[in-house]
Amino acid sequence: MLLTAFIGYSGIVYFLGTETAKPIEFSQEIQKGKRLWNAHNCVACHQLYGLGGFMGPDLTNTISAKGEAYARAFILGGTLRMPNFHFSETEVQALIAFLSSVDSTGTSPPTTFKATWFGTIPSYTKEKNSDPSE
Ligand code: HEC
Repeated sequence: MLLTAFIGYSGIVYFLGTETAKPIEFSQEIQKGKRLWNAHNCVACHQLYGLGGFMGPDLTNTISAKGEAYARAFILGGTLRMPNFHFSETEVQALIAFLSSVDSTGTSPPTTFKATWFGTIPSYTKEKNSDPSE
């Protein structure tokens, strides 16, 4: 019995393979934005997905919540408390692309999920600060 199950399962694994889902690919622009993000240590003052410094706001969902133009204004000019990094137009665009890609992959503050009785999480639609358990 156990042997049959083993052979059967081995067969399934052998024929179906073990590939994982296609990895997310990041465009050159997004990668450039991420490098700028790291090089200028934005995370010292800002959080992504709730992690990072707390001088400035969490930027995970800034793009969808407040728009590109809003984020661009801060990144281009700085403020009294945020430094002006004197970025070029393409650098600002790359940072916006990076923040948009972050925005499409998570929410902040982290959402609390309610599991079903069999351990999965019911379908989840991304809305700013939404709590699907409500
Ligand atoms: C020295 C701390 C500091 C650093 C470093 C910093 N910021 Fe900021 N940032 C702030 C503060 C503080 C604010 C809030 C505006 C204010 O109070 O002046 C802000 C606001 C913003 C906003 C607007 C967010 C919102 O929801 O209002 C964006 C976008 C932003 N920063 C992007 C960046 C990026 C990109 C970098 C890295 C290139 C960066 N910041 C580096 C302190 C910082």
